[in-house]
This record gives sequence, structure tokens and C-alpha cells, in this order.
Amino acid sequence: MSQRIPQSFIDDLIARADIVEIVGNRVSLTKAGREYKAVCPFHAEKTPSFTVSPTKGFYHCFGCGAHGTALGFLMQYDNLEFLDAVEALADICSVAVPKTTTSEERAPTHNLFDLLGQADALYRQTLRDSQTAIDYLKARGIDGQTAARFGMGYAPDAWDTVLKALGTSPAHIEHLRDAGLVIKNEQGRQYDRFRDRIMFPIRDPRGRVLGFGGRVLGSGEPKYLNSPETPVFHKGQALYGLYEARQGQGRPERILVVEGYLDVASLAQHGIEPVVATLGTATTAEHIRRLTRLADRVVFCFDGDRAGRAAAWRALETALPMAGGKIEIHFLLLPEGHDPDSLVREKGKAHFESLIAAALPLSNFVIEELAQRVDLGSADGQSRLAALVEPLLAQLPDGVYRDRLLEQLAERLGTSTERLGTLLDAPPPAPAPRASAQTPTRTLRSTLVRKALTLAVHHPEAAAQIGPIDGLERVDQPGITLLCQVLEVTAAEPKINTAGLLERFRHDAEGRYLGQLAAAAPLDDEAAAAEVLRDCAERIVAAFRRERLSALLTRGSSLSDAEKTEIRELQAASSRQSGFPEA
Ligand code: UTP
Ligand code: MN
Repeated sequence: MSQRIPQSFIDDLIARADIVEIVGNRVSLTKAGREYKAVCPFHAEKTPSFTVSPTKGFYHCFGCGAHGTALGFLMQYDNLEFLDAVEALADICSVAVPKTTTSEERAPTHNLFDLLGQADALYRQTLRDSQTAIDYLKARGIDGQTAARFGMGYAPDAWDTVLKALGTSPAHIEHLRDAGLVIKNEQGRQYDRFRDRIMFPIRDPRGRVLGFGGRVLGSGEPKYLNSPETPVFHKGQALYGLYEARQGQGRPERILVVEGYLDVASLAQHGIEPVVATLGTATTAEHIRRLTRLADRVVFCFDGDRAGRAAAWRALETALPMAGGKIEIHFLLLPEGHDPDSLVREKGKAHFESLIAAALPLSNFVIEELAQRVDLGSADGQSRLAALVEPLLAQLPDGVYRDRLLEQLAERLGTSTERLGTLLDAPPPAPAPRASAQTPTRTLRSTLVRKALTLAVHHPEAAAQIGPIDGLERVDQPGITLLCQVLEVTAAEPKINTAGLLERFRHDAEGRYLGQLAAAAPLDDEAAAAEVLRDCAERIVAAFRRERLSALLTRGSSLSDAEKTEIRELQAASSRQSGFPEA
């Protein structure tokens, strides 16, 4: 998505944002000199290696390398997309996101959020007034506290509850249709989508209602009715319970994924948290991406029946390419005839937790499932098992799961992993896209350019002082364009801090490299920063001129007139700089 918010607004926001307050509201910080320290919320650790620098407006973890600005922190910790994080930060800083800049597509979504919020309040009020609905929830074992925490409501048995209360003008009715709350039939009659149902609001990580799931009180069909896809509600992305799960303290060790709304509420009520549900759809890659941002261990919990096993297998196939690094994916198939709600109510918390602890790691789950599809007693069955595992192996990134899957397959087939290797002849896994998308890190040969960029990003105030460096923009070397851009920004905005600078380059492919440099230790003390930076930049230019000059001179005869002029210019420039230290 392209950025539609003016840079000046982001600059201002970053300048206002108090990163210590923002991080401190979510993570417990202790002061250490000029900085603050905490146990990193983005990886499991005991001794704090997460630091926040108020002057730089920047956080960084020496343990896992997580780093960024206040905006980045909100994105990473609160699981927000860029524009949502901007809005959240603007809220925190009590400034309004400029109206003129919200795009045409975004403006109406604000109306939808308002309407959905109003409908949510209406359903909750109606639940308080409906003894039948309250009795239903009680009979399902849901207590008042849980109902309130998940914002459960009730849509009365009428065609026009929402329509009457919120459809006060033709425009409002149209918005209600956009929000998926009102339906227009072929005869043009309009009516409430949700009638006589317990309502489960589906919220985004900020707590805004995106849509609803509604369960019939009795035995009507369909049992659950969901909001349709709307500009704000996308089933393939949303996770029920995500907002509620995020209210817990710190980074959880694992997150549980179940299939039903009531499973989430019931488990949460029994203290088994965090827990979320997909919304009657297969697990998508986007779901997994969101889940792995929240916790390093994701436990999928499915019913033990055929449908549950099939759903688990689909989740596995989607998860495979992402099961690398420190991400662990486990599968828990419940005893037949049970779902998480019925099981936790019958057997209690401790039993359920023991099942979670015994959930199968991805590699074991693969082997267990596939072994059931073949006859391992026969040579034919054994080679079929290998053939079934092969395409899955090809998708698994390098890491423990690949190794374990190979080991377990070898064990099942009664052979060694070495023999298996030749048997499978598996192609090497495709390189992770992240590595190849990396910017100059690898190509940045010149340590001088790296040094200059590091200084500028750690000391933007020093960079602002150095003035134009003659000839720098003509240096043809990786990283120079970025360095020139950084110097341009600091010259124009002498008050910008590290965070502000990084936000300037958020949408720039090369700019991400600046974040890595900001996370590296600063090179020099502040007092000398400007001088050292200017020296670096001048040396880069001088070295480039020398190289260029010698390249031209050794070419000898075949020089064009332009090149001959260039030689004279280069010689003049180097004599102006003579006496300057060699690079
Ligand atoms: P289940 O049929 O397993 O129901 O659907 P459940 O969650 O156990 O519900 P209770 O306990 O009978 O109330 C699991 C999930 O599948 C989706 C819903 O998200 C539901 O929570 N679903 C199910 C639908 O979207 N529509 C349906 O008609 C049924
Ligand atoms: Mn159930």
C-alpha cells in the first residue's frame, strides 16, 4: 500500500511521540543511564537485552535484533499495519490524522467502524435485556465476566432492530449494508442480517469491531452466521479473540488456535490463554503470519474427527514454508467427539494443559498422518511414505523441522538419514525471500560509506551541520545515494532525531538498512560526530576520484574528449585536496 499520509505529519508525530511512554505502557522498563532496559517482548529471555533510547526515539534488542521507532513498536507489538499504527500513535499523541490526506477508500471505513461500534453497543444492550439469551449463555457455561470481556451481545428476533436504531437516513442504511449488517433482497426489501442470535464481535488488534459471528439460540440453520466480506472485514485475515488475547501481559510463550467462537470464550474462561479462532475458514498464510508475530510457538487445536484432521492437514500445508527459524508449530488433535469447549468443561484446565504440552511438533504430525495412509510393513508402502514426505520437505525452510522430519522418516523406514538423503535426492529449499530482499548490507563494500551512514543515523544533529560535500553525489558506489538522501533530509530538518530519520526511509527499500545501522553500536562520541562524518564523506569522494583518475589514465589512447576533460577536472580536484589524509 502506498503511503498517503504526508511526510511532514509523520515527522511531527515521531517528534512528539514519547517512545519511553509508549513502550513503557506495554513493557516494564527500568532506567539505565540515558536509556531504558526491559526483558525483550519479542523473544523469550531472562536477562534484559531490550533497550529504549528516548533521545534517538529508538528501541533495539541485542538478543533478537528487533528494532524500530515508536511507530515500528506499535506495528510489531500491537500487531498493526502501518496506517493503523499511524492512527494509533496519533491517538496517543492527541493529534488528528489530517483529513485531507485520508484516501477516498479509507474515509468510508471510518464510518463503518463507527457503525459497527454502534451496532455492537446495541447488541450488548439487548443481551442485558434478554433473559432467554442470558439463559442460553449460562446453559453453555459462559459467565457474565467472560461474556462482558468478549463483548457478547444478542440480536433480537426481529427484522429491523439495527435498521431502526441506526438506519436513520438512506445514506446510513447504505452504510449499514456496506458494514454487512443489513441485507437488501431482490424485491428491494431491506432487513437485519442477524436475528435471534448470540453475537460475537470480531475485533481488530486495536479493539475496533470489524464484523460479527452470530450463533442461533436453538437448532436453526445455519448454526453460525458471519458478517460477509466488507471493506473492513476479511475472513482470511481476521482471528477471533486476537484483541482479547493481546490484553495479556508480555509476550506469551505460545498461542493456541481453535475452530470455534465458544471454544475461545470457554478456554479463556478456564484460564487457557491466549487463544484465538479462525472464522469458519481454512487457516491462511496471513493468519499464520499474524500468529507468529504474537508468539514463537503456535499450537493448532482441532477436533479429532475427520473434518478436524483434514483442517489440521490444510493448516500444516499452509504453515510449512513458515516453519523455520525460531517459529515452532504444534498440532493437537482432540479425542473424537470432543471440541475444546466440551473437553475443558468436562476434564478441566490441568488436563487440557497437559494435552497442549503433549501436542505433536510439526514434523511428528507429518509422519503420523502420512504413516496412516500407507502400509509401512511393505517395501512399497515405505517408498510411498518417502515419496509423500518429499514434496513437504522441499517446502520446509532449513532448520530443526527439516532435520527432525528427515530423522523421523529415516527411523520409520529403518534407515539412516544419510541413506535417506540419496534416496530422496531432495532439491535444496528455495532461499528465504527475506534474505534476498535485503538491501546493501552485502553489497556495501566500502566500510567508509557504512561508517558515514552509521554516524549520520546515530547523530542526525551532527549530520545536519556538515554542509554539502562537493562531488559526493557523483560517487558511483553502493550506499552513496542513500547517504546523499540522508544528508539532504538532515540539512532540511536539522532537529530530526534517529527515529524521524528512519521513518523518512520506511518505504524505501534501501532505507531499511538504516534501521540495522541504528541498531548497531554507535561509533564515535557525540562531540566528534560531525567532524568524523565530514572526514568520512570527503575521503569517500577523494578515493573515488583517485580510482576514476587512474582508471582513465591507464586506458591511454582511446579516450573521448569528455573523458579528457574529466581527467583535467579530477586532477584539479585532487590538487585542491592534496594534503588531505589518504583513505
Ligand atoms: P462447530 O460446528 O464445530 O461449532 O463450528 P462449535 O464452535 O462447536 O459451536 P457450538 O459449540 O455448537 O456453539 C466451529 C466453527 O465453525 C464456524 C464457526 O466459526 C464455528 O465457531 N461455523 C460453523 C460457521 O461459520 N458456520 C456454521 O454454520 C457452523
Ligand atoms: Mn462446540
